[in-house]
Amino acid sequence: MKETIKNLTAYQAELPVDVVKAKYQLDHLARLSANESPYGPSPKVGEAIRAIPDDVLGFYPDGQATLLRQKVAALEQVDPEDLVFGVGADELIQLLTRTVLTPGGNMVVPSPTFGEYALHAQIEQATTKQVPVDEETGHVNFAGMLAAVDERTEMVWLANPNNPTGVFETRADILAFLAQLPASVVLVVDEAYYDFVDAPDATLAGDVGNYPNLVVLRTLSKAYGVANLRVGYGIMTAPLYPVMQAVRLPYNLNTYQIVGGAAALDDQDYLQDVVKKVQHERKLFQDFLREQGFKFYASQTNFIWLQVGDTKRVGELLLSQGYQVNDRLSDTWLRIALGTPADNAGMRDILAQL
Ligand SMILES: Cc1ncc(COP(=O)(O)O)c(C=O)c1O
Repeated sequence: MKETIKNLTAYQAELPVDVVKAKYQLDHLARLSANESPYGPSPKVGEAIRAIPDDVLGFYPDGQATLLRQKVAALEQVDPEDLVFGVGADELIQLLTRTVLTPGGNMVVPSPTFGEYALHAQIEQATTKQVPVDEETGHVNFAGMLAAVDERTEMVWLANPNNPTGVFETRADILAFLAQLPASVVLVVDEAYYDFVDAPDATLAGDVGNYPNLVVLRTLSKAYGVANLRVGYGIMTAPLYPVMQAVRLPYNLNTYQIVGGAAALDDQDYLQDVVKKVQHERKLFQDFLREQGFKFYASQTNFIWLQVGDTKRVGELLLSQGYQVNDRLSDTWLRIALGTPADNAGMRDILAQL
């Protein structure tokens, strides 16, 4: 076995809602620990999946995910041949690290950020250099990230907006950073939460054509509300595109993912409605946190990262009242996904009593 992964522990996946309800004897449980959508997907997704004839079951799916490829290309205004699909953005994170990192190489990430990046680097026997975000604002320390790049650096990861901080970096700042990166270093901008951003000009999808070392990731798990379907995509050009296509499994997306994902993308009115609700709830929650004197970072996502002192105590308190949040990422900061208006109000009541 690879020496670097002997002591790896498995990802602590979310427990099923029914299990948590039974354990804590709860009638209502709001699962707000995995940044899922409380609104779920457009009803058209289920309709499209149910309309798939059983005949398809006996045959391998379309390995090119053509239907989805065409929809995404039109939506993002990119070449269909610049798209690699994955079983969630997770699979693309795995594929990218597998493709780019070599044993003894390294990658640079802000800290905190999404834990999957470092996990996969470790599996590839590469190391991860973590550059703390600005303590006050949560913004990425671009100068520090550049200073961390050395001759063994093969990748840089930027979740934008970042998870768990929720903080958004402008396209201009990222492009300025990219301009200073050696062309041999791949920059992955993980835009999993892009749909929730209310700043203009928020994506680098249109820049991929100008930078062979730039990759943009997206997922349908968040704003589109289909986390269970497991659909994500990466936008990239040659030389990465053909190699990533060769590295991925030939039939990684099944027909239900392709058809369901396409239906989700088709219903942009539904998406915009969800996004508006999340942005409204985010404002209410942040106004409340500000009034109450909590330290938190300004979020452009569907979750908020706030300092609570003893994370476990506050996490347990919220859970005992039916609100499951993420208390596993820090001893002092909690990540709360925004839920329904009623659930958000319920959580505010509890936080106000702290
Ligand atoms: C920043 C970031 N990237 C990627 C993912 C993975 O998303 P998916 O469900 O598409 O695998 C997540 C999920 O929480 C995330 O927060």
